[in-house]
Amino acid sequence: MSKPFYITTPLYYVNDEPHIGHAYTTVLADVIARYHRLFGDDVHFLTGTDEHGQKVATAAEKIGRDPQSHCDITAQSFVGVWEKLGISYDDFIRTTQPRHIEVVKQILRRIYDAGDIYQEEYEGWYSVYEERFFTEKDLVDRKDPISGRPVELIRETNYFFRMSKYQEWLLKHYEEHPDAIIPPFRRNEVLGFLREPLGDLCISRPKSRLSWGIEIPWDPEYVTYVWFDALLNYYTATVSPPDGVQVGWPAQYHLIGKDILTTHAVYWPTMLRAAGLDPPEHMLAHGWWLAKDAAKMSKTSGNVVKPLDVVDLYGPDAFRYFLMRDMVIGQDANFSEENVIKRLNSDLANDLGNLLNRVTKLLTQHFDGIVPETTWEPEDSLIEFAAATAMKVRRLIEEVQIHAAIEETLQFVRAINRDIAAAEPWKTVQSDRDRAGRDLTRAAEGLRIAAVLLAPVMPNTIPELFARLGVNPVPDRDWDDTRWGDRLFGRRVTHGPALFPRHRKPKSEQVGKQAKPAPATTGSETGRDVLTIDEFQRVDLRTATVVSAEPVEGTDKLLRLEVDLGGETRQLVAGIRQHYSQDELTGRTIIVVANLQPAKIRGLKSEGMLLAVRDGKELHLLGPDGDVSPGMRIS
Ligand code: MSP
Repeated sequence: MSKPFYITTPLYYVNDEPHIGHAYTTVLADVIARYHRLFGDDVHFLTGTDEHGQKVATAAEKIGRDPQSHCDITAQSFVGVWEKLGISYDDFIRTTQPRHIEVVKQILRRIYDAGDIYQEEYEGWYSVYEERFFTEKDLVDRKDPISGRPVELIRETNYFFRMSKYQEWLLKHYEEHPDAIIPPFRRNEVLGFLREPLGDLCISRPKSRLSWGIEIPWDPEYVTYVWFDALLNYYTATVSPPDGVQVGWPAQYHLIGKDILTTHAVYWPTMLRAAGLDPPEHMLAHGWWLAKDAAKMSKTSGNVVKPLDVVDLYGPDAFRYFLMRDMVIGQDANFSEENVIKRLNSDLANDLGNLLNRVTKLLTQHFDGIVPETTWEPEDSLIEFAAATAMKVRRLIEEVQIHAAIEETLQFVRAINRDIAAAEPWKTVQSDRDRAGRDLTRAAEGLRIAAVLLAPVMPNTIPELFARLGVNPVPDRDWDDTRWGDRLFGRRVTHGPALFPRHRKPKSEQVGKQAKPAPATTGSETGRDVLTIDEFQRVDLRTATVVSAEPVEGTDKLLRLEVDLGGETRQLVAGIRQHYSQDELTGRTIIVVANLQPAKIRGLKSEGMLLAVRDGKELHLLGPDGDVSPGMRIS
């Protein structure tokens, strides 16, 4: 029996056109789903749209449409974008579908009958935009603390869910299941939240104020709070999946952005518990794509990068590859066209494209395009490299480290390129045709395996790569295809135009600040302390990703940083406040001395030191060239 693997994206609000935030989570889910299909798991991939609530009602009203036809149109634009991006979902759920409305009513009734829903009069500051109440002390400048929009004082009777009753249970659950929330620093955030008193949850809205929602089954004066309705979709899809499909509960993975962690990690499991259902196995909270100036690219700030712009310019797979390779899951990442181009040129044009081009060109020139049969040396280092890469990729995907799995595959591609460059078959073909043939077949077989490992990330282009190698282009493969063998013997390859073209910077693009040349070294060798290698190696230098940065009170020089050292979070206090803003630091990978004796600075513990270089008045943080996972040792 294959392992069930039920994975979900959030349901996207239909008050907005699809943007990069939606595209990222959906591509991520798609890539994970495709890898698990390759592993032979029984994958069910759910996405869809969140269609009730004030935001949607207001958006529809603004353009003079009734809410349902507004939803029908916008839901379709999500479907269209997913099609363009090659998203292989198994089910697309919409919260206005009768199958969902029925389940929401059943669950509400079940929880109500069990006594966990009660009615009470409540007074609070209501934000129409966020569709929720805030207390007086939550407000910032008497405005909604999240969106900064106006709030109004409302006194009304509503239904409340006894969420507080499940606080202890949930805390224990997260303590006992350390991998229920990924990454660990997000789990710590939730644990911190759960150690404070947890209130009950207002789960209704009077129809007099908002009618666009699912009616409370025992009280026609009210509709259900949009989050209570939307979260239940993950369960609805198992009760009433598409025809002929069986989906078990609980879900293995909910993918979410960091901004919707509390609703998923606190509201959702308590709702499930009250309904007698198990919590999901894992939820993965990813970071945000930030624009160059580090502003959130969301509808709140209006700074939205439409995925289709990039997709149209560079193609869906280039976009998918960039999203997957450039974001370390959990961290924020920077989106810019410049970064997209850099990544495409280095990994796809230089490494992968170059290899394909070389192999097909040389086989066409010297072997009439037919891959020669050969025998493999039992201890061929490239064959061992291929097996090790496949194993690592599988483990990394199971740990949802997508960027690292891609990087492993690219390391393998680079090794093939190095081998073929060293073997020089274009020269040896004159003197030793067999050897040149074997070297080319070897490179082609390595490339085939790399392509199998990259197919989940680039499902639109890799089939064409398979076709160029003369094998079945249908990406319907299994894990066995990652084994080294004779699949290419006798196949006809095709040499064609670049599959992964090199891109020049578009004119419109703002050229980033040029890196400064390294300052000239001063001082002579003589008179310097000499360090032995052993002494140097005692210094544990590691890469670390900045999770957060905040000013230290009472000084204008210091920042308190939280850094991720590859699973371990550390606090550093650093005198860099005059050189870097908090936003510039978050998500950045730096180098720290990890085994420095901790120090107290302004009463705060600093567990390590970051490396920086001063050039005149300017200070520059040191970091790796390219994306490196946090916690990597520098040698
Ligand atoms: N409807 C709710 C989810 C209900 S799930 C039961 C919702 N919808 S949303 O359309 O506003 O956002 C969906 C997702 O987009 C969130 O996970 C959010 O984190 C993500 N993103 C929005 N902007 C983003 C970026 N700039 N970068 C990455 N993801 C971000 O919330």
